[in-house]
Amino acid sequence: MNRDQDPVAGARELFSLQGRVAVVVGASGAIGRAFASAVGSAGASVALVGRREQPLREIAEELVATGVDAAPFPGDMLDLAALLAVRDAVSARWGSIDLLLNAAGGNVPAATLADGASPFELELDPYRKAQELNLIGPLAAIKVFGPALAVSESSDRAIVNVSSMAALQALSRVGGYGAAKAALESLTRSLAVELARGGTGIRVNAIAPGFFVGEQNRSLLLEADGSLTERGRRIIDKTPLGRFGDPLELASTVIWLCCPASKFVTGVVVPVDGGFSAYSGV
Ligand SMILES: NC(=O)c1ccc[n+]([C@@H]2O[C@H](COP(=O)([O-])OP(=O)(O)OC[C@H]3O[C@@H](n4cnc5c(N)ncnc54)[C@H](OP(=O)(O)O)[C@@H]3O)[C@@H](O)[C@H]2O)c1
Repeated sequence: MNRDQDPVAGARELFSLQGRVAVVVGASGAIGRAFASAVGSAGASVALVGRREQPLREIAEELVATGVDAAPFPGDMLDLAALLAVRDAVSARWGSIDLLLNAAGGNVPAATLADGASPFELELDPYRKAQELNLIGPLAAIKVFGPALAVSESSDRAIVNVSSMAALQALSRVGGYGAAKAALESLTRSLAVELARGGTGIRVNAIAPGFFVGEQNRSLLLEADGSLTERGRRIIDKTPLGRFGDPLELASTVIWLCCPASKFVTGVVVPVDGGFSAYSGV
């Protein structure tokens, strides 16, 4: 029975990543870890990338225990030589690379405007760091892993970037982060166009998560005792579903953006935000 005769088998195939190799940059973070487990559970082999080796090892062990083929590849995405070494090691292990998930980034504390401070007092260097972490880092990963995606024989090659609610609406005090994410969304669209028109078949999309507690934003959202900060409370009030997200709630979207079910989707930014971007707050 083929896909047309058996819609369930067809659907399974459409959403399968069996035989694909995924590189997840930022795999030890709240969101990267969820991405790694999502694409792994859909059948992909997963290369876990981040600077610190120990958390990557622990996540690899957890994934392997659930039957996912995963391994740690420590490296700094801002260091091209380190990324090239990771690319060679991943290719040597699995033979090809089909998917790149750019899940490293976040707010840079030094670029956060103090409560009540004037934006005219901002230092420029922390702003540069926010751009470096959220725009140049993902671009560096695309520059290094992209050529491997381009030569893969898989029919599905995809890049997924991670934007933020801060890209389209001003979030107070984190303007540098928002500017970097807005640029990343623009880059997502322009690379989608260039890579499609260039005939590579590589699709480029982004997810814009609402609010999920990660290391880079924990102190903005939660007090040391786990209660909400005032900012955390305001965010929940503007999220119609009334809570922070669970990173695993990004799983279905990341799988969809990587698998054959989205093969005509490129250059989009998908919000997964509990309704935050739809709601004016009134
Ligand atoms: N959490 C949210 O609510 C939220 C919402 C919207 C968007 N996002 C975006 O989602 C992404 C992940 O956020 P998160 O909350 O999961 O952050 P997180 O928990 O702080 O994790 C960040 C991850 O990135 C890695 N990383 C940082 N700098 C790196 C570098 N130079 N090279 C390689 N890896 C690096 C970190 O590992 P090492 O430190 O070991 O390198 C860690 O694995 C970010 O782009 C963030 O802006 C998050």
